[in-house]
Amino acid sequence: MKLKLFIGLVVFSYLYTACDKVYEPVSIDKIRLVWNHDPATAISIGWDQLTGENPVVYYGTKDQGRKWKRYKLSQEPTREISHHNMNTKFCELSGLLPDKAYYFVIKDSEGVSERFWFKTAPDKPVPFTCILGGDTKSVEPSLSAGRSSNKMVAKLRPLFVVFCGDFTSDDATDPDHWALWLTDWFELTRTSDGRLFPIVPVQGNHESGEPGILNSIFNAHYQYENPENIYYSLSFGGNFFHMIILNSEIDEGGDQRQWLEEDLKKHKDFTFKLASYHKPFHPHTMGKRENIYQYHQWAYLFYEYGLDISLDADSHMSKITYPLKPDSINGYEGFIRDDINGTMYIGEGSWGAGYRVADDNKPWTLRSGSFNQFKWLQVFPETDKDPAHIDIRTVITSVRNSLRNNIPYVEGVSNLSEDDVFVIPQGIKLFSTEPYGDIITYPFTNRK
Ligand SMILES: [Fe+2]
Repeated sequence: MKLKLFIGLVVFSYLYTACDKVYEPVSIDKIRLVWNHDPATAISIGWDQLTGENPVVYYGTKDQGRKWKRYKLSQEPTREISHHNMNTKFCELSGLLPDKAYYFVIKDSEGVSERFWFKTAPDKPVPFTCILGGDTKSVEPSLSAGRSSNKMVAKLRPLFVVFCGDFTSDDATDPDHWALWLTDWFELTRTSDGRLFPIVPVQGNHESGEPGILNSIFNAHYQYENPENIYYSLSFGGNFFHMIILNSEIDEGGDQRQWLEEDLKKHKDFTFKLASYHKPFHPHTMGKRENIYQYHQWAYLFYEYGLDISLDADSHMSKITYPLKPDSINGYEGFIRDDINGTMYIGEGSWGAGYRVADDNKPWTLRSGSFNQFKWLQVFPETDKDPAHIDIRTVITSVRNSLRNNIPYVEGVSNLSEDDVFVIPQGIKLFSTEPYGDIITYPFTNRK
């Protein structure tokens, strides 16, 4: 009897180990995660299938390494596109559990990928961090500056990243530039333990050569059954956080304005409402034109429905304003300061693109500056001690010296751990705004 039991165990052990055979890595790259539906329960995994066939994503809440058979869930690609010299596959995962770590591998006819992981958004109000920025270029020295910002993402471990338009140097029709951007994103923003961060893509003017490109590159959502209408919104945390993605590269009025008003109305009771779009109403550099029509289509809606923070890009610099109320009669460039009910406007690009001079401040500008940067937000729900608030920091990722060489501010920055993504890492360079210091809090309670 004992002998039979022993033989049985040996056979079982052999078969179990055989199931775990680790194949050679699959021939895929440019993996990106995208939020384009319900971030608490769904995510899109996209990649470029170089060779090999029949890829499947195996995933679950338990880390099984590369032992693909041990994952409880699997999903074949839900969308495939051959475009821009890439064989793009998307796996849209749904039915996920909120506020969970999910581990996954991609297996195809040639092998099994490394094990990656991501986190779903919470369905209750809990603290989280996110990164907001935009504008990269495909050539040096801006290319290297963008890589510094990418590396900083991995160090800060945000829940997600909003990329506010202008991904490449041209008009988004150069396949080599997309390959470069997607490879950099995959290689540089992921952590050493394989965590990938979902991107929330925004249309910029450098995507003008193909207005629906963000749908084919990122599976981005669009409206009115037209892939050129890349605008959409995302919510999570119950009624805690709502993010609206607008499109400043098509008509900001008409259908888009109507959609915006309906979306704001539907989500007006959310604790925090943010909007992101590429072009600012009033750039903080003289080299960029004012966008008056856009202001008239959106600014009054923002105020009427209590939009808290607006993120823009395009100018290649940094700005942050006081909370603002639109007033096209009495305001300076259409705005007056309203610390209680106003919208705070933050931006304006320079993830990697060469920065412009900050020479167009307004009476309602809190601070502007010229360097490569993104905004790092720490978002907190209400507690017994504190009201709900958002701490906004401007992270300087590189500057240029007089010879136009990049001086990166990333290599000496310590890596945050999963245990505490709210710590300020050693060595990080923050843009200090006197008398407020490194943090601008919304609501604007730290005013003096
Ligand atoms: Fe732009």
